[in-house]
Amino acid sequence: VSVKYDCIERATDAFGRTFNAPPTHGGIAPGRVNLIGEHTDYTGGYVLPIAIDLRCAAVGRVADGDRRFRAHAADLNETIAFDPTSDPDQLPVGHWGRYVAGVIAGFIERGCDVPGLDICVATDVPLGGGLSSSAALEVAVARLITSICAHEIDAIDEALLCQRAEHTWAGVPCGVMDQMSAAMSRAGHAMLIDCASLETQHVPMPAEDVARIAVFNTNVKHALADSEYTTRRAACERATRVLGVWSLREATLAMIDAMLSALSDEESRCARHVVSENERTVAAAHDLQSGDLAELGKLMAQSHASLRDDMRVSCEELDTLVELAVACEGVYGARMTGGGFGGCAIALIESSHFENAAHEIARRYDANHSPACSLICACSSDGARQIDV
Ligand code: GLA
Repeated sequence: VSVKYDCIERATDAFGRTFNAPPTHGGIAPGRVNLIGEHTDYTGGYVLPIAIDLRCAAVGRVADGDRRFRAHAADLNETIAFDPTSDPDQLPVGHWGRYVAGVIAGFIERGCDVPGLDICVATDVPLGGGLSSSAALEVAVARLITSICAHEIDAIDEALLCQRAEHTWAGVPCGVMDQMSAAMSRAGHAMLIDCASLETQHVPMPAEDVARIAVFNTNVKHALADSEYTTRRAACERATRVLGVWSLREATLAMIDAMLSALSDEESRCARHVVSENERTVAAAHDLQSGDLAELGKLMAQSHASLRDDMRVSCEELDTLVELAVACEGVYGARMTGGGFGGCAIALIESSHFENAAHEIARRYDANHSPACSLICACSSDGARQIDV
């Protein structure tokens, strides 16, 4: 089944209906899957995300009147008015408008002279599915602002600005992976990010006829997802201090063993996950580069086990998908992707087996689960860009 993703068209149409004039500028940014390197970005570790061809669009025009900001979400048919120079609490916690307002606030803080704006957003990235729908929204809005204000910002600063919006306006203490992936990815490539130096390296993905990635969305997000994320991050920070390193990437498993009595159970488990995941991620980038997909698949499986057993951010739905996937012919490896506690699992599948394996995994999962999972055949995509509307 081929689905037509048309977030630009939806955003543009809804803009016209809502604000009675066409938009003049726009930005678009993709969601992502993370091949490996999970729960490592906020400790300055390594990650290997791939931007996917599901995107968020933000279109807009300068508003009449003084510094008046309005935004409309096409998919929710909801319009808000907001003041980016005021408090995040003007909008409810978790509200999409906080991401929009937070990014504009970041540009104003940088000294960008942002005029009053009317904005409309629409997204093809499933919400709350661990595919970075919020980073796609932030970075799409950032590209709209740079376009409408003719403001120069490099992609790393743009990602950092969007991450800050997420911290201060959305209250989520995320790392920088999602925003950098949305801002800087390249089609046909995964991107190895060193989250301490923010250096990036584009690593070619296998050709379409060699291997492909299937994404299974469990369509569940467990209630604890956000609070557990914050707890894990805090445990990693405590472990960093106890181990006396500037980042967990400087720690080794031997150091953790030597300090076991000074670390709580949670701290040592989280540290063990991060230390081992950093090693796996660097190794995985090499395997991807050299085309050793069997080895890459093994690292994916180890990553999942570590997230399940040490980091403890998986759940029954993700574990089942991964188990079903690795048992299927043609699957190199599978793992949860994103923050966990629901959301998506990915499988790296030999192309000749792709259709059979992907549908078989989904069919077996659906036999015992409600809601059913959705299968997304993601292609790698370029990062954000400005669009002509
Ligand atoms: C979420 C965060 C990212 C990262 C992942 C886990 O997606 O936004 O910064 O921490 O979880 O790897």
